[in-house]
Amino acid sequence: MKTTMTSLTLPLADDLHVHLRQGDVLRTVVPLLRAGGAGRVLVMPNTTPPVTSAGQAVAYRAELRAVAPDVDFLMTLYFTPALTPDEVRRAAAAGVVGIKVYPHGVTTNSASGVEDLLAFGPVLAAMEAADLVLELHGELPAHAGSDVCVLDAEERFLPTLRSLHDRYPRLRIVLEHVTTARAVDAVKSLGATVAATITAHHLDLMIDDWAGKNHNFCKPVAKYPSDRAALRAVVGEGHPRFFLGSDSAPHPRTAKECASACAGVFTSPLLLAYLADTFEGLGALDRLPAFASEFGCRFYRLPPARETIRLVREPQVVPPAYGGVVPYRAGATLNWRIAAA
Ligand code: DOR
Ligand code: ZN
Repeated sequence: MKTTMTSLTLPLADDLHVHLRQGDVLRTVVPLLRAGGAGRVLVMPNTTPPVTSAGQAVAYRAELRAVAPDVDFLMTLYFTPALTPDEVRRAAAAGVVGIKVYPHGVTTNSASGVEDLLAFGPVLAAMEAADLVLELHGELPAHAGSDVCVLDAEERFLPTLRSLHDRYPRLRIVLEHVTTARAVDAVKSLGATVAATITAHHLDLMIDDWAGKNHNFCKPVAKYPSDRAALRAVVGEGHPRFFLGSDSAPHPRTAKECASACAGVFTSPLLLAYLADTFEGLGALDRLPAFASEFGCRFYRLPPARETIRLVREPQVVPPAYGGVVPYRAGATLNWRIAAA
């Protein structure tokens, strides 16, 4: 007999990859983190200008805390060619937890990124020694004359992931927002210091869902049905090195509903509700607490959250916008919501 769960209590989630921006967008999105179910978030550094020093990370954290004192903000630096081993050590001493790599030119605000990551040996060695986590946007940039495109850019990056792990086996590495069966296999095949994040939207979407539909367009792009199946399978099996990083990436409506849309899907305000819908559809609702609240903090060596949230099986309609930012699946009815405390 098939029974339907109607409620699920889990620790407050860790969203280990989120874009919180600056100014008006920051003030719109940061207060929505807790509403979406996250109590601790890893903040991406691709602001304008990017967060490249320990001092900037500390100042950004103070700004975020002032808006949402009930959220724990874990900070990252942006890996630029100018990053030094000394700055890595200063960052670690200031409580920064990771350094994010955007290969030059692959996505929003990646112009300050590095071209050849393996050429930055002293910085990588300093990270390994200071126990900072290397977060990778794992796409090989396309350039004139190359045969790389959005569909194979992630797969073509995997040799770099393997080389990094070979050379720095104690360096903890997270391959962010994986979208392909090949990336899932690669991460599984590597050691305990290599993990991956998976977004809520990549568990739902494939190419046909973003081609011509700008609100579902993000980088890396969602791929084939077989790739989505691999993501679903790895969360369904409860693999401990695959955990939640939403890559929630707010852009004003005008930057999405235009001819040259920014990449990014905004999921923060309803994050756990989206995930509950998806995990229920997979018959894997029992795997959601570990995916959202256990595996990530274990990899990042953080204490588990003490507070809990309760998800209930009650419909809610996704609002059309939050302060000019359109959320993922705007107008759709979700089956789950977070119960009022
Ligand atoms: O879709 C994306 N949006 N992918 C990224 O890597 C960056 C992000 C953003 O900052 O908007
Ligand atoms: Zn991101």
